[in-house]
Amino acid sequence: MILPQTPEPHTMPEKILSPEKTEKERISDLQIRPKTFDEFVGQTGLEEQLQIFIEAAKQRGEPLDHILFSGPPGLGKTTLAHIVASELGVAIRATTGPVLERPGDLAAILTNLGAKDVLFIDEIHRLNQIVEETLYSAMEDFAIDVMIGEGASARSVRLNLSPFTLIGATTRTGLISSPLRDRFGVVNRLNFYPPDTLTEIVLRSCRVFGIEIEQNGAREIADRSRGTPRIANRILRRVRDYAQVMADGVITHDVVDSALSMLKIDEKGLDELDRTILAMIIDDFDCGPVGVKNIAIAVGEEVRTIEDVVEPYLIQIGFVKRTPQGRVATLAAVAHLHEHESAPSTIQTRVT
Ligand SMILES: Nc1ncnc2c1ncn2[C@@H]1O[C@H](COP(=O)(O)OP(=O)(O)OP(=O)(O)O)[C@@H](O)[C@H]1O
Ligand SMILES: [Mg+2]
Repeated sequence: MILPQTPEPHTMPEKILSPEKTEKERISDLQIRPKTFDEFVGQTGLEEQLQIFIEAAKQRGEPLDHILFSGPPGLGKTTLAHIVASELGVAIRATTGPVLERPGDLAAILTNLGAKDVLFIDEIHRLNQIVEETLYSAMEDFAIDVMIGEGASARSVRLNLSPFTLIGATTRTGLISSPLRDRFGVVNRLNFYPPDTLTEIVLRSCRVFGIEIEQNGAREIADRSRGTPRIANRILRRVRDYAQVMADGVITHDVVDSALSMLKIDEKGLDELDRTILAMIIDDFDCGPVGVKNIAIAVGEEVRTIEDVVEPYLIQIGFVKRTPQGRVATLAAVAHLHEHESAPSTIQTRVT
C-alpha cells in the first residue's frame, strides 16, 4: 500500500492565516458579513465618501459612478460592494474576471441588468483583453457592440444597456490597465485595519455568534490577525473551539495565547510559511535581495500567493522591503526570528 505523503506544514490544507476565503466561510460569512455602513467597522474616511456619493446619486436619480476597490484579500471589498448596492436600493449581480471568457458572457449579464443596478466584478485584473475592451464602451456609453453571425455574414450590432454601476474589486491595482482604471469615477484602496478596529470587529462577531469573550482576548486576536478582518474571524472560530474543549468556553487572553501557540501563530500573527520565507531570505540569501520567483520555488508556493497573500503584510510591518533587485529582509525581521529561535518549545522557527 502506498501511503500518501505528508504535506509540508505550510502546504497543509487548512491555512489559518491565508486571507483567502474557504468554503466553510462562505456559509458563516452570510451571518457575520456586515450588511449596512453602520455594521461595517473602520475605513471611516472611505465609508463617509461613499455615503455622500450614494446620497448625491440618489437625489439626482442617476446611477452611481463606477467604483474600483483595491487592496489585499479579506479587507472587505466584496462586503462594501454589497453594502453600496443595498444602500442604493438596487439589485447586485456578482461575477468574477476569469469567469467572463468571451464578450458574449459579459453581454449576457449586462443586458439583464435593471436600471441603476450594480454589476460587481471581482478579480477584475483577470479579465481577458477582448472582454475588457467590451467593458469600456459599456462603462462609458452604456452600450456594447456585439458580433452577430459568422464568416462573411457576420455584422456588428450596437446594443443599448440600462445605465448601471460597475463595482470592480482587485487585489492587484498594478495589473489594472490604465484605460480600465480611468473609466472608474471612484478609485479606493482598502488598507490593513489597526488593532483597535479589528478588536471591534472581533467583538461584533462574538455578539452575532453568541460567543463569550473578554476584551483582552479580543484584543489578542486582533493583534495576531495581520490587520485582516477575514483572518480575525477565522482565528476567532478556532479559538472558540479551543476555549470550548480546553477551557470553560470563555475566550480570555490566555486562551487565545495557548490556542495560537498550538496553531504556531506567533505574536506578530506570522505563521510557519512566513517564518520559513523570512528565514530563507536571511540565511540562504544573506538577507537578500532575492527574486520572488526564487522564494516561491524554494517554499513550494505560487508566485501569486507570495505576492498577494504573504508579502503585503510582511511589508506592512516592515519585515520585508521590495527593491528593484528583489526582496530584502530587514533587521526587524532578523530580530523577530532570533527571538523565536530562542524559544523553540512553543514556536518552531524553521520547518525541518
Ligand atoms: N470593515 C469590516 N467590518 C466588519 N467585518 C468585516 C469588515 N471587512 C471585512 N469584514 C469581514 O471579513 C470578511 C471578508 O471580507 P470580504 O469578503 O468583503 O473581503 P474581500 O476584500 O472581498 O476579500 P477578497 O479579496 O478575498 O475577495 C467578511 O465576510 C466580513 O465578515
Ligand atoms: Mg471579495
